Amino acid sequence: MARMVSRPGGLSAYADLLEPSEAIEPVLSRSVSGALTEWLTEIWSGEELKTAGLTPRRRALFHGPPGVGKTTLAHHLAARLGMTLAAVRPERIVDCWVGASAKNLGAVFDLARTDPPLVLFFDEFESLATLRLDARQGADLQHNEMIGTMLARIELHPGIVIAACNHASQIDKAIWRRFELQIEIAHPDARGRRQIVSRYLAPWGLPKRSLAALAAALEGASPSLIRGLCESVKRSIVIGPKLGWQLDRKATILRAIAAVEPAPGDGRPRLWSLGADDPALPTIPWPLPLAADIEDAEESGPEPRTGVVTPLRRR
Ligand SMILES: Nc1ncnc2c1ncn2[C@@H]1O[C@H](COP(=O)(O)OP(=O)(O)OP(=O)(O)O)[C@@H](O)[C@H]1O
Ligand SMILES: [Mg+2]
Repeated sequence: MARMVSRPGGLSAYADLLEPSEAIEPVLSRSVSGALTEWLTEIWSGEELKTAGLTPRRRALFHGPPGVGKTTLAHHLAARLGMTLAAVRPERIVDCWVGASAKNLGAVFDLARTDPPLVLFFDEFESLATLRLDARQGADLQHNEMIGTMLARIELHPGIVIAACNHASQIDKAIWRRFELQIEIAHPDARGRRQIVSRYLAPWGLPKRSLAALAAALEGASPSLIRGLCESVKRSIVIGPKLGWQLDRKATILRAIAAVEPAPGDGRPRLWSLGADDPALPTIPWPLPLAADIEDAEESGPEPRTGVVTPLRRR
C-alpha cells in the first residue's frame, strides 16, 4: 500500500518535480529506443506478468557523456507513464554533517512513496553512489554511510527508480548490480544528428545534401551542443538585424560556433576545428530556407511531443 504524502510537500526540498506536460521526446538511437519500448511494455503488462510469477523491472541506470539526453529521457519516460519525475538534486542531499547525508537520502525514499506514484530520478548519480572509500576520514565515513542507505533502500522502494551518470564504472559495484536495466546513451549517429539538426533548426531547414554534410561536420557532437548551435543560428537570424550584425552565411555560422563550446573531454567535432574552412559550410543554402519550402526535406525526427500518456508505437 503506497503511503500518502501530499505533494509537493517535503519532497520538493530535495528534488525538482517535473510534470508530464513539460516533457519532450528525445531523439534516440534504435537500440535505446528499442530498450525503452521493451521496458514500457513490461511496466504496462504488470498484471499479465504476475500470472507468470514475474514483476516488471523497476530500476534503470542510464549512462553516457554529458548532454546526450539522459535527463530528457527520464522525464519523457515518466511522462509516458503519466507520472511526475522527482529529479533529486544531489547538492540538497550531500551534507557535511556526519549522518546528515544518509538521513536526507532516507527521507527522499520515504517521501517518494506517494499515491499516485512518481518516478524517482537520481541525476549525477556519481555524487551519491561512487565507489566506497577506504574510510579513514569523516567525509569518507559519511560517504560510505550514504552508500549503505542507498543499498538498503533502493530495492525496497516500491516505485520506479532511474539513475543517470557519465561513467558506469565509477558507481559502487553493489549499487550498480541493483539496477536491472543498464542503458548506455551514446553520442548520436549520423541519422540522429540529422534529426536533431532538423528539430532544432525548425522552422528553418536544410535540403538533404547540406543536412548530410552538416551532420558529418558534427560527428562527435552531443545533442545538447547541436541544439545550442542551431538555436544560436536562429537567434542571430531573428535579432541580428536589430543589432546591425553581419548576417551572411559565414559570419552567422562562425558566431554560432563561438557561442557554444563542446563539453571538456568530449573532443572537438570537425565544425569547431575547421570553422570557416569546413567543407559543409558552402553546401548550406543562404538565407536559410524555411523547412516547409524544401522539396527534398528528409523525414525529421519524432516531434518533440509533450508528455501526454501515449503508449509507444511499436517500431
Ligand atoms: N537525444 C536528444 N534529443 C533531443 N534533444 C536532446 C537530446 N539530448 C539532449 N537534448 C537537449 O539537450 C539538453 C540537455 O540534455 P540533457 O540534460 O537531457 O542531457 P544529459 O545527458 O542529462 O546531460 P548531463 O550528463 O549533463 O546531465 C536538453 O535541453 C535537451 O533538450
Ligand atoms: Mg542530466
